[in-house]
Amino acid sequence: MSRFTEVRERTGTRSVKWDMTEKLFKSNEVLPMWVADMDFQAPQAVIDALTERAAHGIFGYTITDELVEGTIYEWLKRQYGWTIDTKWISYSPGVVPSLHMIVQALTKKGDNLLIQTPVYPPFYKVIEQHDRNVITNKLMYKDNRYEIDYEDFENKIVENEVKAFILCNPHNPVGRVWTEKELKKMADICLKHDVLIFSDEIHSDLVLSGHKHLPIASLSEEISKKTITCLSPTKTFNLAGLQASYVVTANDKLKKPMDEMFHAQGMHMLNTMGITALEAAYKHGEAWLKELLEVIEDNKNFAKKYLNETDQIEVVEPEGTYLLWLDCRKMGMEHDELKRFMQETAKVGLNDGASFGIEGEGFMRMNIACPKATLEEGVNRIVKAVKNR
Ligand SMILES: Cc1ncc(COP(=O)(O)O)c(C=O)c1O
Repeated sequence: MSRFTEVRERTGTRSVKWDMTEKLFKSNEVLPMWVADMDFQAPQAVIDALTERAAHGIFGYTITDELVEGTIYEWLKRQYGWTIDTKWISYSPGVVPSLHMIVQALTKKGDNLLIQTPVYPPFYKVIEQHDRNVITNKLMYKDNRYEIDYEDFENKIVENEVKAFILCNPHNPVGRVWTEKELKKMADICLKHDVLIFSDEIHSDLVLSGHKHLPIASLSEEISKKTITCLSPTKTFNLAGLQASYVVTANDKLKKPMDEMFHAQGMHMLNTMGITALEAAYKHGEAWLKELLEVIEDNKNFAKKYLNETDQIEVVEPEGTYLLWLDCRKMGMEHDELKRFMQETAKVGLNDGASFGIEGEGFMRMNIACPKATLEEGVNRIVKAVKNR
């Protein structure tokens, strides 16, 4: 049995996904398919490296030396053809903490920041919790695909004197992997109006066939000087509990205040195990990642076929991520009723579409990074419940 087919018991591992079911969904019978981690073991090389490091037994403060920087440099070059200077790297325990600190370091109270909705819920919080204002550029949904409304994008920037744009690429939850043309168009508008780009690219390696991830900062030197890119091996290799991420900033005028903020918050260092895992994953994880993407593609096709066949749910075709955005509006339910239906009748634990913004009403998000047996169970529960209602 491969690590992608084995159903490994996660209950009892202090798993957010599996050990909070009763608390969040009011019943242990609910199958959790929500928070974005995977039900797969990490690459063997990562497990071996962690085991070896654990056996040493001393876990003092640990440095991210040039070997770690070298693995990051090589990864970015190999995966996206992006050549960076290792001096551009900063570290942080997570992309969400990074965004909180970047917003505080590079914008002021009362500033307006732009996001493209529906979007990953912490994007609202990293703005609002620091007394900045959310400005939304709503993504347009037509023919099973989300597109950018550029006119609105520019108008919102001009009307609100927007200081920064938080980009999500690939986009969670709508699954778009923005193309070079789209990225260039957004970047040009940002450059024209002096808007900083904070680019969350945590899903950058989770790209399905026929699509390619491009870091927005890699498009031109001019764009890179305006951009801060947040990346991490944790989503790619299922290491979220190890908390290791990094930020790439080519412009020293942005990097300096940002680094000062990271230091002031005591968030500039990684933990021993996170560093070990990052290095092993980037050095030896590529074959595992290739296999993972095949599994996700296969799972996506399976879920899409059976959910679409209900004629009441439409799976938004994802280009990246392992998260399916389900358009359930044909079910004709009020949003709260839809949530209750999935939880109480179908007994699956999905993410509430409305938590991604008002545009997410009538939608739910489903995590398909699980063995086929788990996916089949989840999809069957939904299909059966929809057919019987
Ligand atoms: C777009 C996006 N950014 C950030 C995160 C979380 O990042 P971290 O765990 O590094 O804080 C997620 C997790 O799902 C995500 O989807």
